[in-house]
Order: sequence, then structure tokens, then C-alpha cells
Amino acid sequence: MHEPLPDGGTVRKLWIGETGAYRDHLLRLDPDSRHRRFSGTLADETIARHAETADELGVVVHGFFVDGVLRGAAELRHIGGMFSREAEVAFSIEAPWQSHGVGSALLERTLLSARNRGVKSLAMHCLADNRRMQQLARKFEADLKFDFGSVVGEVDPPRYTALSLMREAVADAHGVAGALLDAQARLFRTA
Ligand SMILES: CC(C)(COP(=O)(O)OP(=O)(O)OC[C@H]1O[C@@H](n2cnc3c(N)ncnc32)[C@H](O)[C@@H]1OP(=O)(O)O)[C@@H](O)C(=O)NCCC(=O)NCCS
Repeated sequence: MHEPLPDGGTVRKLWIGETGAYRDHLLRLDPDSRHRRFSGTLADETIARHAETADELGVVVHGFFVDGVLRGAAELRHIGGMFSREAEVAFSIEAPWQSHGVGSALLERTLLSARNRGVKSLAMHCLADNRRMQQLARKFEADLKFDFGSVVGEVDPPRYTALSLMREAVADAHGVAGALLDAQARLFRTA
């Protein structure tokens, strides 16, 4: 499950201090995507306040970046403290980058992080008519048992292993290297 990402985009975790980029991305969502992301209508201020909590303990956000701009995100949030085995996940991809495999790449990385944090139960608040999200979850049936009725999935296998920890560490290291190369490329382009 390693399809090339559109527009040469990269996936990496958001760093501390990038909550502004997360807010801007969430506020750029078109009305339908925004409605689906938050399962309802929210004011800009509420969304901005939500984005500010992205660097709290117990929250891991993986982002999809194109030319240094955050265009998609998967937010993993422990429910009831960072050591809780329950978490929820929510996805937001800006319309031009939807249906190009970005959600799949973000879910794959999020499941690895969830597993490494001992998460056993993963809730996805997804509107009943959100076929794309349901289809996306189905692609990961081997890793995630998903009950569409109760919108709660079970991460399987629930325990981390040395290999899964290593995979996350390697992915993070690639994220740092990719971000540095990306910044350098943009610097050369503007020079
Ligand atoms: C739902 C969402 C996360 C899916 O991510 P995505 O990048 O668009 O999805 P992918 O391209 O990875 O496709 C996932 C699967 O969905 C299916 N799919 C893709 N486009 C589809 C479409 N337009 N209609 C129905 N199914 C579709 C495909 O079967 C695909 O699997 P495949 O690659 O094996 O063919 C994304 O569209 C999004 O952010 N939407 C707005 C916000 C939202 O709905 N959030 C979910 C609630 S938290």
C-alpha cells in the first residue's frame, strides 16, 4: 500500500509550533469537506481553537504537505488521557487532493502510531453517507476491524512490536529529511 502521493507531496507528523498551519488547512476546507470532517457545522473560531490543541500530549497529527503547505491531515487523539487505550481519528483532505490516495497514506501512518501507543479501540466519527471514508477504512480491514454501525474500530493487532516502533521512527526520520529538502527546494525556486 505505497502508492505515489499526488504532486510529489509528502506525509509527516506535524511538529510543535505548526498548529497555525493546521488551522489554516482546516479553514481552507470547502463547506462539504468541513461538514464531513466535523460531522456538523462549526464556526471558524471554534475550528481555530480546536487546531490550537493539536500539539497537546495525547494528540498526533500526520500531515500531507505539498510545496510546504499542509493540504491534508489525520488527527489521532487519545480519549481520556495520553495513556488511554481508546482514541479517535479524524481526516481532512482539501478537495483537489481527495481521491488520490492521500487518505490511504494518512490512515496507514495513523494506524502505526495508534498501535505503537497501545490503542485498542479507535473511533471514527463519520457521517453515514460518507462512502469514501467507509471505503478507506475497509481497505485496512486487516489492521482495523471497523463496525460502521457503532463507528468504532479495533486496532489489530493491538500491541506494538520492536518492528512497528522502528517503522514509525524511520518514517519520522524520513519526514524530517523530506521537510528539509522541501524547504531547500523552495528556497532555490524563490532565489
Ligand atoms: C474521506 C477522505 C479522508 C478520504 O481520503 P481520500 O484521499 O479522498 O481517499 P483515497 O484516495 O485514499 O481513497 C480511499 C478509498 O476510497 C474510495 N474512493 C475514492 N474516491 C471515491 C469517491 N469519489 N467515491 C467513493 N469512493 C471513493 C476508493 O475505493 C479508495 O480505495 P482504492 O484506492 O482502493 O480505490 C477525504 O476524501 C476527506 O478528507 N474528505 C473530507 C472530510 C471527511 O470526509 N472526513 C472523514 C470524516 S473524519
